[in-house]
Amino acid sequence: MEHQRTHTCGELRRDHAGEKVVLNGWVDTIRDHGGVMFVELRDRYGFTQVIADPEHLPGAGELKPEWVVAIVGTVRLRPDENRNPDKSTGDIDLHAESVEILNRSKVPPFEVEPNSVTREELRLEYRFIDMRRRPVLEKMEMRSDVARIIRREFFDLGFMDVETPILMKTSPEGARDFVVPSRLHMGQVYGLPQSPQLFKQTLMVCGVDRYFQICKCFRDEDLRADRQPEFTQLDMEMSFVRQDDVFEVIERVMVAIYKEILDYDVPSPFPRVTYADAMTRWGIDKPDTRFGLELFDLSDVAAASEFKVFRGTVEGGGTVRGLVVPGGAELTRKQIDEAEVVAKDYGAKGLAWMKVTDEGPTGGISKFLGEAELAAITERGGAKVGDLVVFGADTWTTALTVLGQVRLHFGKTRGLIDTSRHDLLWVTDFPLFEWNADENRWQAMHHMFTAPRQELPEPGEDLSEITADLYDLVIDGNEIGSGSIRIHRPEVQARIFEHLGISEAEAADKFGWFLQALDYGAPPHGGIALGLDRIVMLLSGSASLRDVIAFPKLASGACPLTQSPSRPDAAQWEELGLEVRVEEDEA
Ligand code: AMO
Ligand code: AMP
Repeated sequence: MEHQRTHTCGELRRDHAGEKVVLNGWVDTIRDHGGVMFVELRDRYGFTQVIADPEHLPGAGELKPEWVVAIVGTVRLRPDENRNPDKSTGDIDLHAESVEILNRSKVPPFEVEPNSVTREELRLEYRFIDMRRRPVLEKMEMRSDVARIIRREFFDLGFMDVETPILMKTSPEGARDFVVPSRLHMGQVYGLPQSPQLFKQTLMVCGVDRYFQICKCFRDEDLRADRQPEFTQLDMEMSFVRQDDVFEVIERVMVAIYKEILDYDVPSPFPRVTYADAMTRWGIDKPDTRFGLELFDLSDVAAASEFKVFRGTVEGGGTVRGLVVPGGAELTRKQIDEAEVVAKDYGAKGLAWMKVTDEGPTGGISKFLGEAELAAITERGGAKVGDLVVFGADTWTTALTVLGQVRLHFGKTRGLIDTSRHDLLWVTDFPLFEWNADENRWQAMHHMFTAPRQELPEPGEDLSEITADLYDLVIDGNEIGSGSIRIHRPEVQARIFEHLGISEAEAADKFGWFLQALDYGAPPHGGIALGLDRIVMLLSGSASLRDVIAFPKLASGACPLTQSPSRPDAAQWEELGLEVRVEEDEA
């Protein structure tokens, strides 16, 4: 390269007029106005319009989009009528005096233009072209800014950044581990961490006191828009703390992020709702509180109802809940049926409904409802003329979950969500255990290292009443983080294993190393991990995590850029002492 840049493509202003400069960058667009060429030159920092005379300037006539060039020229003020106030360099042009071609480019498979619509898989295969598009690059810059703010705040608060291993023992968390075969220990594997949970707890035993890390986690689970097989956590842990201390740190960091990235003031302290309240009011443990439509209880009046579904449910120990959709009386049968599909997807047997009109309740199950039910619907649900009321009759969890999803469905389809708002809140007091009906056993709601608040009953007894300092950070209806106050006493940890049906031998085999650490003076401690990808997805208004990850995986788990996963060659298998049994066509 003969000509190294003196300025970036986003830098030149009216004050530079008359200066001789050099720009390096990519040719974005070329417009040829017969004898005068307008070349838009691009780099990470912006665009500069270059004016060249192709007849007298060697190289200029050859240029094609995405070629890399060095332009030497003089900055000139544009005539007033040609100024572009929307562009940082819109006051000037660069009049080219020489063009050095630094590299040529093949014709890209799609336009670099920000709004060009292209199949995502192709975009990701050619991410090096895709990321030249402003909106894609801006999300990466936002991500970098968020990480910078996080690090600044955590260092200011005296946290220590400690890296934890990626090759580790297969870990005991919820999802499936990715495993890495060992060459030196043939027949054995490492696991990739689903999170640094046990390491960060061990760091507390080490006396690190305040730890944080922005780290990669790996989970071999079925993917969705908000899940990637490898993702990034802001992970933290603190010693000698209570829940409030963890909240204070996270609130400070989140307030700084929203202020600096979106210029949005998040009120703190953040509201707190218990898990039980979140479920009863919004039918979900990650409520989107940017719109109303809270659920209400009808069980007492339903018990005496003429409508068999209601009465039968209450008699069977279940509950009946309602939800008012303001203005919903205008909904068509088809639209109500669509909501019923949502309800059934979440396990409902149906979605009973009625409309409130000038002539009183009509349609659906209205003819089965008596004075008491109608009065309760008006009083508790605030139903008015013009509204639709829907009902869920089922077990506590199903009735609430179903109506919670129907609420979200109407929130979205009826445009009720105030998207200019950002609601950050804590959901607290989660139960420690949940019943796994498929496997007929209790399992940890979050993970098995969370401290119970109450004395544990004898194994085999009901665990549903045991709660914990177990909390989630929820933003605009998304679970962004989870954490808890941990068990620091080995005998409590042993009891939890007992309740979860993990034998002493199994515990010792899986995480004996960690239990040993607890035996040597573990301090009381707690922490949380936030999904960094999810935070940036929300901040940037993206629909998918893939938009905020430089080189993401597809929903199939495949990487379109590097074409992984791929088959190792025979020598690699040999070295690892492995053999593939899967038939070629099965794979
Ligand atoms: P948890 O499993 O809840 O907790 O994870 C914490 C946060 O990580 C994000 N997250 C994901 N993001 C993208 N893709 C995924 N597959 C994915 N899985 C999780 C979510 C989630 O809230 N060790 C505990 C934390 C602790 O107790 O301190 C843990 O990992 O935003
Ligand atoms: P049925 O009497 O079974 O025809 O039901 C009448 C209405 O109640 C229909 O709209 C059903 O979708 C609805 N429904 C039936 N079972 C339930 C239930 N468990 N919860 C809510 N709605 C129900």
